[in-house]
Amino acid sequence: MRDKLAILGGKKLINSPFKKYNSIGNEEVEAAKKVVESGSLSNYLGTWSSEFYGGHKVKEFEKKCAEYFNMKYAITTNSWTSGLTVAVGAIGINPGDEIIVSPWTMCASATSILHWNAIPVFADIEEDTFCLDPKSVEKNISPYTKAIMSVDIAGQSANMDELKKIAKKYNLKIISDTAQAPGALYKDKFAGTLADIGGYSLNCHKHIHTGEGGVLVTNDDELAENMYLIRNHAEAVVEGMGKLNLTNMVGHNYRLGEIESAIGIEQLNKLDKIIKRRTEIASILNEKLSKLDGLIIPKVRDNCTHVYYMYQMRVDLSKLNISRNKIYKALIAEGLSGISLSFANIHLLPIFQKKIAYGSNGFPWSSDICKRNVNYNKGICPVAENLQDNIYIGFQMCMHEMDDYEIDLFLKCFYKVWDNLGQLGKI
Ligand SMILES: Cc1ncc(COP(=O)(O)O)c(C=O)c1O
Repeated sequence: MRDKLAILGGKKLINSPFKKYNSIGNEEVEAAKKVVESGSLSNYLGTWSSEFYGGHKVKEFEKKCAEYFNMKYAITTNSWTSGLTVAVGAIGINPGDEIIVSPWTMCASATSILHWNAIPVFADIEEDTFCLDPKSVEKNISPYTKAIMSVDIAGQSANMDELKKIAKKYNLKIISDTAQAPGALYKDKFAGTLADIGGYSLNCHKHIHTGEGGVLVTNDDELAENMYLIRNHAEAVVEGMGKLNLTNMVGHNYRLGEIESAIGIEQLNKLDKIIKRRTEIASILNEKLSKLDGLIIPKVRDNCTHVYYMYQMRVDLSKLNISRNKIYKALIAEGLSGISLSFANIHLLPIFQKKIAYGSNGFPWSSDICKRNVNYNKGICPVAENLQDNIYIGFQMCMHEMDDYEIDLFLKCFYKVWDNLGQLGKI
């Protein structure tokens, strides 16, 4: 059907933004209220005492997370950025050690590495899943590589079978940043649970949230002990606990509060339902959008599931005579919200381009602890860069509550633009 596109002065299809995603209900209000009424909003002490592991709600939430993810330990933190920092310290990283990380992620995946004065090294991603490409990981291994930070981006797991083979071959640890994929399955296991340490973000736009927060998971006793310590003032606790290995026993206050934990318990109860709805929405989008020539819908890894934090699409420029940017502008002009073109290629952030992190003199890269000149130039991750520059279109499902009417509007925008692609030549 020919229709004048809004970008060329036609009538736009959507006049108000989609409803904001909100998973908080009465259950969370009541749970938080009970904690407030108890007067006990946190029960931590940063000493070797019964309060070292936190209060009732922290422990209950951790127990329920461990049960849900089928892991020996679940350890909460006050954000997932804190969680990643705890994880990097817990694997015993030394200053100058290298950790291979994806560029297609949120900056904390890499800054948690820098936090310990270790060096992030960026490997490229798979074009269809947006997760680390194991081949590129292997190419980026140097004598200084100690770990892989795999990111389960947008709602599905990285290729853990291949990453684990590489880790075994080169004696590396794996940390899974599964911030965006709680409840996604990699074969018969949950994403995040196949690494030495994995975990999930509980910030306000994740599937389930506590405002801010994170959960680490592991089956390893020693890593768990290190994580409990780094989370809660390790330096003041090791002696009482009798811990002899002092590697990275510099602690923080990364503790989650009782209110957040009580909310987390209620949120965890809702996770399956939330994933079910996201999957339903994605399958409607998949069915309809796959009919548009030149638009590529998200690929789900074989034998795995996707929980759709983002709905990541691509354009096939060999089938379209029009640039991705024009298509994007036309979609936005129709009033579509939540569509974006970028998912930071984080190696291109000023911190890496200028190599200025701690202090003003280029530490850690300029110091002796950094054993080689690590390259962050544009061009090191051609797949991720091409996605961002030319072919990626993302829909932030995490930000929106979509009912059937809104799903229909979303699809109408795509169909209108696709039916009238010829008009875009004029702009
Ligand atoms: C992939 C990824 N890693 C790390 C983080 C950091 O999590 P938080 O905001 O809970 O600190 C996020 C948050 O959006 C994320 O998406």
